[in-house]
Amino acid sequence: MENNKKQVLSCIQPTGDMHIGNYFGATKNWVDLQDKYECRYGIVDYHAITMPYDVKKLRINTWEMALNLLAVGIKPENLFIQSLIPEHAELGWIFNCFASFGMVSKQTQFKDKSRSSEEKSEGFISVGLFDYPVLQAADILIYRADYVPVGKDQEQHLELSRAIANRFNNQVGKEYFVMPEALYTDTPKIRSTADPTSKMSKSSGEKHYINVFSDEAKIRKQIRSAVTDTGETPEGEMSPGVENLFLLLTACGNEQAHAALMTDYVSGSLRYSDLKQTVADTLVATLAPFRERKEELKKDKKQLKNQIKYTSSQIRLRAQETLKEVKELTGLLNVKF
Ligand code: AMP
Ligand code: TRP
Repeated sequence: MENNKKQVLSCIQPTGDMHIGNYFGATKNWVDLQDKYECRYGIVDYHAITMPYDVKKLRINTWEMALNLLAVGIKPENLFIQSLIPEHAELGWIFNCFASFGMVSKQTQFKDKSRSSEEKSEGFISVGLFDYPVLQAADILIYRADYVPVGKDQEQHLELSRAIANRFNNQVGKEYFVMPEALYTDTPKIRSTADPTSKMSKSSGEKHYINVFSDEAKIRKQIRSAVTDTGETPEGEMSPGVENLFLLLTACGNEQAHAALMTDYVSGSLRYSDLKQTVADTLVATLAPFRERKEELKKDKKQLKNQIKYTSSQIRLRAQETLKEVKELTGLLNVKF
């Protein structure tokens, strides 16, 4: 290994827009970790084809995600696109033979996704969807990651990765793979401002999420029309809509405004219009540099693509090294033509 820094790996599917829930709940953490660890972040297009998808949009969304990640502060040298590193898929195959069918069958994400796929798309469920977490284990272990920043929903996938690593190590008689650990973010779920009883999510429709790269007027309008009273909050409790607005202040790091407005809330003198105004100002100030950087990066898309192809080729070297060792250890042939 190049140095003693701990290795961090995480990945995201290329799903178009990035909303502030994704940013505060996931990507902001990725950006911050770069100062402390050796980080690699992947856009996982092999994973994106496990569910029925629009062939014409996949490549567009993949580059768009690269642009978005760079715009919020991911360093280009840490970013790769999964299909540019085919070793992920090759190690995924090898791992199929070290993953227990019983354990993979228990994955709740497969059960949830196959149910929703059944409802939406004529009952087609791919083997890839079933096998998804084995490929994820390859994404993680191919870089011998110590830490994997993910949401709580990925806990089971991490467990499977460790089980695969364990079985591999036992079978080849060597502690080759380290056991990856999840790193969870502190930020609780950001809720939809239009319906604060549910979490902010793209699948609920456009009015339910605030795009990180929206223009100022749109962000202000979305915050102004945020629902504060859902009508079901028991006496003396803060409604989820108001709680969500306070949460946005903390997420943006505006502790001072949070404290002042909370004092007003407690004394009963808080005007929701003032809270919304402060949240809108804070959010606009936080997000403006990202929008500007994205505009800048968009000017030279060719350069952006070349850069990501290059960084992927560099990260690939590490993946190739692991795969070579894995082939040695497992008895597969290792010939350079
Ligand atoms: P998704 O595209 O919905 O799978 O989300 C990608 C990442 O963003 C996951 O790691 C989630 O934990 C995080 N995330 C998504 N929605 C929210 C939200 N409303 N609040 C906080 N984090 C979120
Ligand atoms: N399954 C993750 C998600 O749905 C995406 C993912 C794929 C991933 N491979 C990974 C996350 C490796 C962390 C590490 O969000």
